[in-house]
Amino acid sequence: MIISSAKDYRAAAKAKVPPFLFHYADGGAYDEYTLRRNSEDLAQIALRQRILRNMSALNLETKLFNETLAMPVALAPVGLCGMYARRGEVQAASAADKKGIPFTLSTVSLCPIEEVAPAMKRPMWFQLYVLRDRGFMRNVLERAQAAGCSTLVFTVDMPVPGARYRDAHSGMSGPNAAMRRYLQSALYPQWAWDVGINGRPHDLGNISAYRGEPTKLEDYIGWLGNNFDPSISWRDLEWIRDFWKGPMVIKGILDPEDARDAVRFGADGIVVSNHGGRQLDGVLSSARALPAIADAVKGDLAILADGGVRSGLDVVRMIALGADTVLLGRAFLYALAAAGEAGVTNLLNLFEKEMRVAMTLTGARTIAEITRDSLVQAVSPMRPDALADAVANG
Ligand SMILES: Cc1cc2nc3c(=O)[nH]c(=O)nc-3n(C[C@H](O)[C@H](O)[C@H](O)COP(=O)(O)O)c2cc1C
Repeated sequence: MIISSAKDYRAAAKAKVPPFLFHYADGGAYDEYTLRRNSEDLAQIALRQRILRNMSALNLETKLFNETLAMPVALAPVGLCGMYARRGEVQAASAADKKGIPFTLSTVSLCPIEEVAPAMKRPMWFQLYVLRDRGFMRNVLERAQAAGCSTLVFTVDMPVPGARYRDAHSGMSGPNAAMRRYLQSALYPQWAWDVGINGRPHDLGNISAYRGEPTKLEDYIGWLGNNFDPSISWRDLEWIRDFWKGPMVIKGILDPEDARDAVRFGADGIVVSNHGGRQLDGVLSSARALPAIADAVKGDLAILADGGVRSGLDVVRMIALGADTVLLGRAFLYALAAAGEAGVTNLLNLFEKEMRVAMTLTGARTIAEITRDSLVQAVSPMRPDALADAVANG
């Protein structure tokens, strides 16, 4: 299979892993409108082409929370990476690290913090869910700190899990799920040997380490369902802010008012995100939500964004809309499933090349030079005022 883009990695991942895993990665909540809008809205944003400006020297580096990033990209927290490639979190972390960008370990990873952090030279980022079991939260934060994690990404858009219809159909959940997964695995012998057998243990490493007993994949959805906490409010986050020594980022913001609350709370950053369209179907795409949030809080804290980013051009679009750094979710997961660490490395190299082309042809030599002026505002529907501006300015 010829690989030249994230789209190709999606096709390769589909051929490589059993359907229950492919659809768990690829799918979203309910009818998947928000999932589709995330990438469709980004694709509609028109970049403003500029020419003949001597673009021979580009600098993609950026600074975030006292860290230097080789490009304004980080790997998003993605649960169960270790089901997609053998000890997948370690492989993805290593690829990100060698590229000079952060890797975020999910609470619900297969590999525990202690297995992944040592695979990296730069400090790992750690993502935490709000769970009923506050003992677990404290335990895992202590371990993340002991392992040298720098940034805490606190995900707040999952007080309840969204329904994912595809999972019920694919065998991830639903009737006879374990049997269906087993049968599917037998039809993917390469995956079954490499990950199914040699990638064990298949438990949620961070949680097993706390509970002292393995948490099997079968227990995964049940445990999460019982542990998400709909009573959460800003007040519950205060002890975490006081406890965590490094930067704290609130992930799952889609509204300017919530972004302002994050500033008042003292967060160091936010992730503008709808969880990749996996939670409340029908909410705004990240690309549409981002400009108003940037208008509200740009400069007060770091703005990260994710959702539908499938190329370096999309990274440039997100930055032009107001993001400081962009997170990749499915794009890196597809590459990991298709080709492990080498896949993620190649994907990141592709993103870099695509960013370089986009920057060269929009006349941006540095990340700071990617602004709303890099977009043709009159035809970029993400700015509600764009058409009015265009008319007013003739
Ligand atoms: C398979 C999968 C698992 C995910 N697991 C987590 C998770 O454990 N914690 C979290 O905060 N976000 C999780 N996310 C959401 C991602 O961090 C990110 O917000 C989303 O994937 C961005 O959209 P994109 O996939 O279109 O790039 C997950 C996403 C996917 C696709």
